[in-house]
Amino acid sequence: MSRNDIGLAVIGAGMAGRAHLAGYRNAPAVFDPPLPPVRLVAVSDLDEALAADGARRYGYERAESDWRRIVEADDIDVVSVVVANHLHREMVEALLAAGKHVLCEKPLAPSVADAEAMVAAADAHPDLVATTGFVYRRQPAIAAIRDRIGAELGDVVHFSGQYWCDYGVDASGPMSWRYRGGPGSGALADIGSHLTDTAEFLCGPIESVSGAVFSTSITERFLPAGHVVGHGAAALSETAEPVENEDVATFTARFASGAAATLSVSRATFGHANQLKFQVSGTRGAASFDMERPGEFGYVDGSSPAGTGGYRQVIVGPHHPYVTRGMAMDFPSVNFGSNDLFVFQARAMLEQVAGLDTLPPVAPMRDGLRNLRILAAVTESAAAGGAAIRIDD
Ligand SMILES: NC(=O)c1ccc[n+]([C@@H]2O[C@H](COP(=O)([O-])OP(=O)(O)OC[C@H]3O[C@@H](n4cnc5c(N)ncnc54)[C@H](O)[C@@H]3O)[C@@H](O)[C@H]2O)c1
Repeated sequence: MSRNDIGLAVIGAGMAGRAHLAGYRNAPAVFDPPLPPVRLVAVSDLDEALAADGARRYGYERAESDWRRIVEADDIDVVSVVVANHLHREMVEALLAAGKHVLCEKPLAPSVADAEAMVAAADAHPDLVATTGFVYRRQPAIAAIRDRIGAELGDVVHFSGQYWCDYGVDASGPMSWRYRGGPGSGALADIGSHLTDTAEFLCGPIESVSGAVFSTSITERFLPAGHVVGHGAAALSETAEPVENEDVATFTARFASGAAATLSVSRATFGHANQLKFQVSGTRGAASFDMERPGEFGYVDGSSPAGTGGYRQVIVGPHHPYVTRGMAMDFPSVNFGSNDLFVFQARAMLEQVAGLDTLPPVAPMRDGLRNLRILAAVTESAAAGGAAIRIDD
């Protein structure tokens, strides 16, 4: 950086792009110590109107329809890549080569080979911060549960997790990049990436997966007539295309510790728009989490008398990670939501760039590669009728 400020840009102004735009905007306002001055420089999207709208809403100086202008700009230091997965590699490699710090959304890439190339590019620039956006590591309840595994809950015996969404349940939802690509690029890549990362965040490395079953219920979709953001509904064209990947994936896993996991992901679960939910059972207690109730978690241990024991509701508060100083109104039970996680993530990214380290660092791209190896193993298991597949680093 030749200037004393940090210049920021986001490529992709769609559903998650806006969360990054807002995240960087709010990052200097939370936690301590103060960050160096931050400049909100540019928003890039192929859709010019969307880029301009993102810049106006979130206070960025300019909008660019060609992402290469971000690569070339000498007033930009940190870039979030928030476009369809198959576009990540080219952008990340170009940005790193141009000396930019990069936060790339999950899944890091559509394939292990692409992710290996991206990690190699990051390794070639050790002076740059190169990260993957596993934002749920910053969910305060999830982080609080992680802090209790081991000392309080004992060793993990079983992780049972699901990430169920409904964005694919409606057959009249438009065709988008999310429905293209081979087996494993559907619900598994989109939300299974978060679920498997959360499982490893809590329970340590996954050693093998098995018993994978994929299913696809809606086998073709009509292209939208215009631009669509995220999972948005749209007027449809008359052209249908085949859905190339899975609506549902279920599988089991074994952690290196010997503990077991049962996992399922779905983009076609009626009634659950965005439900990451799990229970983790340990040798001395257990905890549970449901993102539909993000400000609390369930907790049980042996400390209550038998007659009144059982799961209790813990309200997340100042005793847990990210809460104190993490939001504008800093008071217990003035609560947080998923958008705040992107603020925490943006703040952590900027801390790393500035050489501060008060928050846990954003996951390195290497973690995104590891996650893809797990997803590839699940896909291989499904193709092999549920065979057990080892994850090799
Ligand atoms: N961490 C999370 O919780 C989370 C949530 C949603 C999405 N994501 C990830 O974020 C990424 C984007 O997902 P989304 O839901 O925001 O997608 P989206 O379809 O809503 O938005 C993507 C945007 O990228 C734009 N775009 C396409 N090609 C481009 C190009 N060459 N240059 C510039 N812009 C281009 C599109 O016009 C679109 O507006 C994906 O990798 C997805 O997995 C992460």
